[in-house]
Amino acid sequence: MISQRIVIKENEDIFSGHNTNDPNTSYLQNKRSFSHDSVLEPCTSIDSFTDDLSTIILANGVKMPLLGLGTTHSGGYNHEAVVYALKECNYRMIDTAKRYGLEKELGEAIKESGIPREDLFINTKLWPTDFGSNVKNACKISCQRLGIEYLDMYMIHLPIVPDSFESPKKIKEETWREMEKLYESEIIRTIGVSNYTINDLEEILDFGSLKPHVNQCEFHPFYNNDEIRKFCDGENIQFMGYCPLAKGTILYEPEILKLAQKYQKSSAQICIKWSIQQGIPAIPKSRKSERVEENCQVFDFDISQEDMEFIKKLGEARPKKVMNFDNIQNNFNLPDGNGREVSVWDRVTELHPYGY
Ligand SMILES: NC(=O)c1ccc[n+]([C@@H]2O[C@H](COP(=O)([O-])OP(=O)(O)OC[C@H]3O[C@@H](n4cnc5c(N)ncnc54)[C@H](OP(=O)(O)O)[C@@H]3O)[C@@H](O)[C@H]2O)c1
Repeated sequence: MISQRIVIKENEDIFSGHNTNDPNTSYLQNKRSFSHDSVLEPCTSIDSFTDDLSTIILANGVKMPLLGLGTTHSGGYNHEAVVYALKECNYRMIDTAKRYGLEKELGEAIKESGIPREDLFINTKLWPTDFGSNVKNACKISCQRLGIEYLDMYMIHLPIVPDSFESPKKIKEETWREMEKLYESEIIRTIGVSNYTINDLEEILDFGSLKPHVNQCEFHPFYNNDEIRKFCDGENIQFMGYCPLAKGTILYEPEILKLAQKYQKSSAQICIKWSIQQGIPAIPKSRKSERVEENCQVFDFDISQEDMEFIKKLGEARPKKVMNFDNIQNNFNLPDGNGREVSVWDRVTELHPYGY
């Protein structure tokens, strides 16, 4: 198994670019004790993440869980459910974004869970208003809100450049260079993108020194994103899914219900298993502890190859995309949630149905 080596630079505060001997700076201590091999040791509970079945290895050798907890302001947030996911269900990957406005709340949940930082895989995303020269600062603030000193994955949330920037191509290139710098400084263990089309990926491959490790896109039985997936496979970019339950909209589709009955599982478990059985990470989200638990009980059964193909064809026959970025230029500047009450986000969701 490949393992990534971390080179520790003595007394260097990477965010500030200055050396520091401040004994209160735990960053260096954490970096020194950080062991990639210790991430996601097999857990022994009933919903255990076993090493082989529950993790994948990215192009740089970093081990990533196949199942994570989604978090977004869309549909609301429940602190207890996140703590429950970490403490009782062995979720070790959390997916979030500056945009969701929940980084601070998640930081509190992580702390309360008592799960050691090095056992977690934490993803967050760069929002396009922070493109260009603000990348490092945005990453730093996200880390501060999450109460952590490095990210397991930092992704560019969207390939769409706000109209307020001149020269979109130049700003995209500058953004990727800044992301590469964060990776090279070991503040982020993996560098990713999200919602990138083949054209967007080709562009980045053209000007980047590093390939993205991951492209996170919509993926569920009714939207299998085949072309982008194949492109990613060919480039050794890990395709990662979001909205594995299509925001709950496909759970009553008759074909899914029938399969649920056949495998004696729930519709949600069928959808999640369909993704992870193909080696595609899934990050279902729920505010309800019992659903959080249900969604991780997917390592004790397999879907037959025939049924896997059958599910894939559902999406080909009647695709159902749930995410829509059409109106994004008018909505880039929604508040980022820093220091705000989560209830504000519930209101934002009502006003702003896209959920990105
Ligand atoms: N990169 C991007 O642009 C992007 C875009 C969208 C999402 N994401 C990420 O992907 C994650 C998942 O996507 P999502 O939250 O939009 O949608 P999702 O996980 O496909 O579905 C969540 C919805 O399904 C319901 N649900 C969850 N488990 C259930 C179960 N076992 N039975 C019945 N209903 C269930 C939830 O309701 P309750 O809460 O009431 O249980 C919620 O309404 C997000 O949280 C976010 O981290 C990323």
